[in-house]
Amino acid sequence: MDIDYSYSQAFSQILKIANSTLPLKKILNSIAKSTSKALNVSGCTIMLLSPHKEHLTIIAAFGLSDLYLRKGAINATKSLPEVLEGKIVSVTDITAEDQAQYPEAAKMENIRAILGIPVIQKGEIIGQIRIYSEDARRFSDKDKDFVTNVAHIISIALERSELQQLLMADHKDTVKKHRKLTETPNLPYSSLRPSNFSHPSEEEFAKLLDFYRIEWLYEPRSFPVAWSNNKITEMFTPDFYLPELNLYIELTTLKQSLITEKNRKIRQLKFNYPDINVKLLNKSDYFKLLAKYGYGPLGVTKVKGINRVLFSQTQIQRRVRAIAKCISRDYAGKQLVLVGILKGVVSFMSDLMQHISIPLTTEFMAISYYGSHDGAEPAVKITKDIDTTISGLDVLMIEDIIDTGMTLNYILNYLAAHNPESLRVCTLLDKRVRRLINVPIDYIGFEIPDEFVVGYGLDYHGEYRNLPFIGVLNPEIREEPK
Ligand code: IMP
Ligand code: MG
Repeated sequence: MDIDYSYSQAFSQILKIANSTLPLKKILNSIAKSTSKALNVSGCTIMLLSPHKEHLTIIAAFGLSDLYLRKGAINATKSLPEVLEGKIVSVTDITAEDQAQYPEAAKMENIRAILGIPVIQKGEIIGQIRIYSEDARRFSDKDKDFVTNVAHIISIALERSELQQLLMADHKDTVKKHRKLTETPNLPYSSLRPSNFSHPSEEEFAKLLDFYRIEWLYEPRSFPVAWSNNKITEMFTPDFYLPELNLYIELTTLKQSLITEKNRKIRQLKFNYPDINVKLLNKSDYFKLLAKYGYGPLGVTKVKGINRVLFSQTQIQRRVRAIAKCISRDYAGKQLVLVGILKGVVSFMSDLMQHISIPLTTEFMAISYYGSHDGAEPAVKITKDIDTTISGLDVLMIEDIIDTGMTLNYILNYLAAHNPESLRVCTLLDKRVRRLINVPIDYIGFEIPDEFVVGYGLDYHGEYRNLPFIGVLNPEIREEPK
């Protein structure tokens, strides 16, 4: 049998590194180096996909210049997109094919051939490994097999480091570990977030963004802003990029000399890159900016009493659009009538119906709750009924939240008696653990734990309905006498 000793040697070396006690970053850099040497190429990068699968971030590299590595937040849908569909992509000569997202940067670095292979964890693509060659090169099946195996090891190394972090957290604080498990679904990415920001205000800003579940990237891109004789003489790296807002942010303290310098760079940046949104923010500015999007302490009167954000405005909107798409498909050709239960449903129903692409009509009902001490009186009473007949129509009940299921059960029985053609249920939130009556639900936005939530239509004593996100109410607020 024909065994390739250089590959098998490199492979043992890589396994040894992966199983060492070195920090993750060192392990990955070392893997990148050994892989480059084994393939006899000029460089290698290891990249991870951002939580929303829009960007690739280089987390380890070998053989490439700093300038190349900082060339920009890599757009996952533009740069070798097939890799993120699970395919192996090899480009024999990028000067001949129009594949590189940053062709000039590639030329400067002398890159001719690229091989991209997905890194897969538990069936999900979490990133990729890329090989760069200075010569045009057709990567062989052996090259591809070798790098695929390296990708497996990278996946295991990432998972292992996560486990270690969790175990360490466990020694310190079990609560922390639990929070980490439940709140950060994209562990590999979050573990590689910078542990040391260059300024405390940056860390504070990152925490604030995390609290409001706004996706962020730290210093993902450096922009050349000044040149002399075709050589870059000055670069500018904004502190943050917020993909949801398509906005770069440079934070600043109140020191006037720094502000002037940063303002100058931002002016150069805007002049050279007119399509880039960038803002210089001091502390009060960034609170103002967050308030504009409904977030942050400036909305104090609005947000006082919110313990944490469960679903951000962006997350809600994305989910609502997805549900609307299913409804449009399932009810095509039918006579759809949406029946909303006031008042909590207002935000959800408004957004939902705007994204449903088939004809529909709307109805609203309102109810009030009664204590059922003697058992004879119903616990729910209709205070506003539907205005037209629903007989023969396809009724979809829209609810903000289903808790015990009592309300829904009562209304379903009531509507069923009006002979609709069909009767189904759509709820934004499902607090399933609290269910007392088993009711069928056809469309669910999010399942939530047993906590009292407000915002996006949901209230506490009539307040908080106007928040664009859904947050958990501080239990102390509920204990205060009203
Ligand atoms: P159910 O009859 O117990 O399913 O009650 C559902 C109704 O209770 C909803 O329509 C809401 O008005 C209210 N509700 C239940 N849980 C919450 C919550 O966490 N926040 C705000 N309202 C809630
Ligand atoms: Mg309600």
